[in-house]
Amino acid sequence: MRYNFDKIINRKDTNCSKWDTTKEEVLPMWVADMDFEVPPKITKALNNRVNHAVFGYPVIPNAYFDAEINWWKRRYGFDIKKEWIEPTIGVVPALSTIVQAFCQKGDKVLIQSPVYQMFNVVIERNEIEIISNNLIYENNFYKIDFKDFEEKVKDEKVKLFILCNPHNPVGRVWSNEELKKMGELCIKHNVVVLSDEIHRDLVFKNYKYTPFAQISEEFLQNSITCTAPSKTFNIAGLKASNIIVAKQEYRVKISKILNQNFTNSINIFGIEAFITAYESCEDWLDELLVYLEENKDFLIDYINKNIPKIKVVVPESTYLLWLDISNLNIGSKQLSKKLEDFGKLRVISGITYGENGDNFLRINIACPKEILKDGLQRLGKTIYSL
Ligand SMILES: Cc1ncc(COP(=O)(O)O)c(C=O)c1O
Repeated sequence: MRYNFDKIINRKDTNCSKWDTTKEEVLPMWVADMDFEVPPKITKALNNRVNHAVFGYPVIPNAYFDAEINWWKRRYGFDIKKEWIEPTIGVVPALSTIVQAFCQKGDKVLIQSPVYQMFNVVIERNEIEIISNNLIYENNFYKIDFKDFEEKVKDEKVKLFILCNPHNPVGRVWSNEELKKMGELCIKHNVVVLSDEIHRDLVFKNYKYTPFAQISEEFLQNSITCTAPSKTFNIAGLKASNIIVAKQEYRVKISKILNQNFTNSINIFGIEAFITAYESCEDWLDELLVYLEENKDFLIDYINKNIPKIKVVVPESTYLLWLDISNLNIGSKQLSKKLEDFGKLRVISGITYGENGDNFLRINIACPKEILKDGLQRLGKTIYSL
């Protein structure tokens, strides 16, 4: 390995959400960012920019758009056009913009619980109704209830379906067939698909991510995709992401809101990191994926051997693993509190992602192995104390 993912970095007192909002002796394995240094080329690019010592208003250069276009083409064989790209300051602000552009009071947005909790927050803050096509959990695995999906999507108040592809927190990489079925039902019932693909690059071996918009011209024209290098390269604090939207009519609606809210600019450091990440750091990502795969295998093995009451939901993607605690007869909120108070471990209770997430915990494994081992020991100690 060229890069050292074992290196332990002290992130305390760095204005870091993950560590600086967590009590002193508690180990944070909650929010979705990684305890790894970014690729050295990103640090170098940022240092060069800092050394210039002038930080006035930026303009987004062609190289930024080329970086997004080239990444899609190189990694996924998907051709996108520069005019489809709307830069934004983060995927969550992008989701909110799109909800504002497509929904009015009285409309509904479809989601699939349990799902990234900010989908709910975004929809609720825009005073739009949430409707959920709950995922089905069977034999340690999640699948889609297509009958219910059609029931929900045919409600004419539903204007938007927010798809999480790949899915946080259940870790599914939706298959081509699953995406096709959902996409066809959305076209049939005039619902626009908003596909959040922020986790697209973090897929475990033997699984294949399919960009929703790549499936067909019809899907491309009926969808909006959100992406960012933030999860992939650990640069969430730099706030650079894109909305990809091929249909001009949709683009006009979205850019109107972006312009009204002045959220279509990116800070100068975000621009530098974005271009460097996508154009020069692919070898780092390939090594990261090997390291995450090892961490995932380590966790599965550790839990199977030492904490068999917990079941690990088959992980296909993301560095966020979803642990089934249904055998423990304790709610996820109560257990995560016990973990924090007694085990000194901070994870996220499954109920955060929807009522049907209450038998689960979400744990972040994007950390050096030594930290992961420590976290798993804390988890085991707490479970045995119950
Ligand atoms: C599915 C999904 N979308 C969006 C985000 C956050 O995106 P951003 O930090 O760009 O707002 C996350 C973070 O965990 C996520 O899991």
